[in-house]
Parts: sequence; structure tokens; C-alpha cells
Amino acid sequence: MTLGILAAIHDEVDGLVAAMRHDDSRAMVHTIGMRDYYAGNLYGQPCVLVLARMGKVAASATTVTLIREFGATQVVFTGLAGGVGADTNVGDIVIADRTIQHDLDARPFFDRHEVPLLDRAEFPADPALTAELEGAAADFLRLDLAADVPPEVLARFGVARPALHKGMIASGDQFIGAPAAVAELRDRLPGLLAVEMEGAAVAQVCHEYGVPYAVMRTVSDRADDTAHVDFAAFLKDVASHYSNGVLRRLLAARAEADPVRT
Ligand code: ADE
Repeated sequence: MTLGILAAIHDEVDGLVAAMRHDDSRAMVHTIGMRDYYAGNLYGQPCVLVLARMGKVAASATTVTLIREFGATQVVFTGLAGGVGADTNVGDIVIADRTIQHDLDARPFFDRHEVPLLDRAEFPADPALTAELEGAAADFLRLDLAADVPPEVLARFGVARPALHKGMIASGDQFIGAPAAVAELRDRLPGLLAVEMEGAAVAQVCHEYGVPYAVMRTVSDRADDTAHVDFAAFLKDVASHYSNGVLRRLLAARAEADPVRT
């Protein structure tokens, strides 16, 4: 079993790469298609880590490489999202139960959002992998967050009692930063909790290769006209700890259940 872990932005993956280098002196970096893939044991489990970069094309190309070149048997995307659910707030975690490409529109040949020739618009996340991620995220929020991120830093971003949500995540090649755009998306996609730029692309590739996938997102903004404000600071000071902390919990739980012999 090899877990492929992708993120869109440096800060989301750097802590994990440092942890892998610390854990596994035999970890290797392979450069393929302008991306660095770090293969080795992370918190005791075989993983491949990669900075996919932003957007659906970048995520798709990277996912194919994870599966074809590195034999990833599961794929997790971790990163940031804009919260569009009524109570999806900055600092919350959203885990996808399904993903959809909100900007895909091949009408009149196919229904809105339907992926041509795949006969579907939504891609369900793998229930077992998603349940593991949910458990890890709940433990992280409950047990680790206060130690990992100082309370004054959380307060600076208005994060008080971060919640965990599971539901629909929509992906598109756009940063959403306007209330009108959010209202239109909510209308078009009932049940939508968060928007980002990669998850549904990873989901489509994983579907095509028969590989289970899951997506975890830290809510960095409300996808409104303040969405870009403090984005970089939130990423560095808060969200990077979420990615690292949740995956540490997930992998440590696996290692405890089934230790890898190296
Ligand atoms: N990732 C984080 N915030 C986002 C937003 N508002 N739109 C798209 N992707 C995002």
C-alpha cells in the first residue's frame, strides 16, 4: 500500500517533506514533469509526497504520475478551500464525500457538470479512506491544534472553535472571491460546502485508474471579496499545521495498526 499525497502550495507540503526526511534516511526525490516526488516512509508508512501546483490540469498530471510511476494505491489531496456552506468558517476542516467540477459545461452535448463519456458529474470519495481522514482530522482538532498553533495566532484569523464538516467540494480553475459567485454556485450545487481548484480533477483520474481518493481542505476564506486578504499568512501560520497534523494522525494510526518493517 502506497499513499500518494498531493498539495497545491509549498507550505502545505514542506512540513511533510521535512518529516519524511527526518523519519527515513533512504527517502528519495525523483523529478518528473517539473515536479519533485518524495518517496519514502512518512510517520512509518510508505508514501509519495508531491507539490502538484494549483489548478485541475496540474493536479491531473501529477495524479497520473503518482499512480503510474510510483504505484500509489490511494491518493489524498490536502490544501485550502473557500468555505461556501452556511456555517463553513475560516479554520474549519472540510472533508469531501464527493467532488464535482463546477466549471465543466459541455452542453448541449452533455448535462451541465457531466464529465464527457464518463457518464457522471460527481465522484464519490472512497468511504474507508475518507473515514480514516475524518477520524484523523477530528483527533487533530481536539488534541493537537492548541499545541501546534498558538491561540493568539488562531485569534488573529478569527478561529475560535474549528469544526469538521463532510460533504460536497467543488473544483474549478478559478479563485472564487465574490459573494455573487458564491450565491450562484450554492444555487447550482445544493449541499456545496467548499470550493477549491484541484480535488475533482484528482477524483476523475483516480476513478479512471480505479484508485481510491480522499480530499481534505482547511477553510482559509469565505470565497467573498476579502478572500485574498491574509491568504499567505493563514497558509503559513495555520493551514500548514493542519495538513501536517492531520496526516501525522492518519499515518500514525496506520503504523500502530500495522507497523512497516524497514
Ligand atoms: N482555495 C482557497 N480559497 C479558495 C477560493 N476562494 N476559491 C478557490 N480556491 C480556493
